[in-house]
Amino acid sequence: MDADQGFSNPSTHDSFEEVLGRRLSRRTVMAGGLATAALTFLGTNTATAAPRHDDDSRSGGGRPRSPRIGFTSIPRNAGPTPTIAPEYQYSVLIPWREKLDGSGASFPYGLTSAEQAQSIGIGHDGMWFFGDDHGGLLCLNHEFGGTPHVIGKTAPATLEDVKVVQYAHGVSVVKIKRTRDGWKVVDDRRNRRIHVDTPVVFSGPAASSVLLQNTAGNPTLGTLNNCANGYTPGGTYLTCEENFNGYFGRTVAGTNSQEQNRYGFSAAGFGYAWHLFDPRFDLSNAAYANELNRFGWVVEIDPRDPSAPPVKRTALGRVKHEGATCVEGKGGRTVVYTGDDERFEYVYKFVSAKNWKSMRAKGASPLDEGTLYVARFADDGTGQWLELSPANPLLADKTLDWILVNTRLAGDIVGATRMDRPEWISRGADGRMYCTLTNNTQRGTAGTIAGTNPPAARPGATPANPMAPNPDGHIIRWLDADQHTGTTFTWDIFLLSKDVADAEGQMYGSPDGLWADRDGRLFIQTDGSQPGGANDQMLVADITTGAVRRLFTGVKGCEVTGVALTPDQRTMFVNVQHPGDGDPALTNFPEAYTGATGPVPRDATIVITRRDGKVIGS
Ligand code: FEO
Ligand code: CA
Ligand code: CA
Repeated sequence: MDADQGFSNPSTHDSFEEVLGRRLSRRTVMAGGLATAALTFLGTNTATAAPRHDDDSRSGGGRPRSPRIGFTSIPRNAGPTPTIAPEYQYSVLIPWREKLDGSGASFPYGLTSAEQAQSIGIGHDGMWFFGDDHGGLLCLNHEFGGTPHVIGKTAPATLEDVKVVQYAHGVSVVKIKRTRDGWKVVDDRRNRRIHVDTPVVFSGPAASSVLLQNTAGNPTLGTLNNCANGYTPGGTYLTCEENFNGYFGRTVAGTNSQEQNRYGFSAAGFGYAWHLFDPRFDLSNAAYANELNRFGWVVEIDPRDPSAPPVKRTALGRVKHEGATCVEGKGGRTVVYTGDDERFEYVYKFVSAKNWKSMRAKGASPLDEGTLYVARFADDGTGQWLELSPANPLLADKTLDWILVNTRLAGDIVGATRMDRPEWISRGADGRMYCTLTNNTQRGTAGTIAGTNPPAARPGATPANPMAPNPDGHIIRWLDADQHTGTTFTWDIFLLSKDVADAEGQMYGSPDGLWADRDGRLFIQTDGSQPGGANDQMLVADITTGAVRRLFTGVKGCEVTGVALTPDQRTMFVNVQHPGDGDPALTNFPEAYTGATGPVPRDATIVITRRDGKVIGS
């Protein structure tokens, strides 16, 4: 979801030269890894030189061709149907409203809440595939669906209307299998929907905090705005709650607390109007005063056990989590990186207390015991992970549960670096963590950062966020000390979107979804306005050279998001989210385009294969 949609600031003043000067001076003191960044800053990105043809060399100066990304980069697309590189093909899987029973049938548009709870949700986003090359369990997030798209009304008129929209959100777990006719859902006892009324449990240091209890005594239910994801080495799925604030509102006028302001709560929310029918989402209902603290978490789901409730892991903090990327750190510790996607928000890291296998063997979760940090990116290309616990002298007067529930405010106190909307994070084949900073149209503009108290000025360009304003975003990367468990790192900029061009000009803006494969490719998915008015898309970058090619384009009005693969990397699943923003005049995806009188477009998963069966991205 692009929370920045609709905001645009045409100002072009940036402090590029000033930043460049600082960055180039730091280049002299850092060994390795900065050549790409320096060239990007100098505007000689490889993509400018080469992407639509066969030459992947950075400068055309005789370096050998890279074998990694050999497909034909396709032109922009602004139409109602996806396009894909000629060496590739795609099919459509699990559109919104498809039943979970393996019949392949779907409930019709206008389905009931009970039917929605038995079928694929809308807003397909982050996902992961737990299986082999022939079949397995796909866990899929349903981030959001606007009321007009889901039920054809501008606002809900009844509780049943609300329930249909609520149950279109959440997570699906479905068994899928490759057949002669392509990938299909098969009936399986593990197929299930998780939505806003599904029982959940809290775990970790804040689980029994009074900040998570309501005088109404209502049980802990549900997950919301499930954006990006993660998966653990233990085979569980992580779904991340992002813009949860937008589902709450007020039935009676009132004043926000400082904490409510910091998380962006408002009387009308995003217009869902759930609070008019469901008291859990009414900020003015004192009996549910802490319901809002029950969202904003990383939630662990065991796809193999349909009776296991989702678990909200409080040790990872409460922010607008984009995703939760797990890596195994030194000593077998579980390390989780997570971005908070809003303008000027932070990047976080969690490190488990011990080896994840030994913790699990003792019945403990590696996601319940450990240390949460927030990132400070220094101007010289180094960085620090700042501990978010009472052990940090700056937080000595706070309790751990307050820090974990009000993590943004803790990040403010310790002086974390305000970033340009951190979205997905993925570990590259070079061991660096790559992170999309999707855009920030407010960097360097007049005014203060919404929700801050005392009001914080909007910072200008810094080396880590060098564009002010930053309408097109960039990708930053860092190398953590001590195999992901240390408190320092070194970082550089991988790509500034504005510098990546082909024969048509700038190739993309607003990078969001991101997945790095083990061979040195980086799959970049976009969410937001694209150069030339083009549709959102998926591109493939070479992390060594910075060369970029366009593999897939979505349909008008959609976002392209989510990546999952079979273990052999020869089948890739991606999502077309909110096609046409629900407007059939723009697209009838996945049906052929017939226009405004055609079917309402449906979010769906796309299955991508190479025609010759080789690895995706090659
Ligand atoms: Fe749900 Fe930040 O994208
Ligand atoms: Ca986005
Ligand atoms: Ca996103």
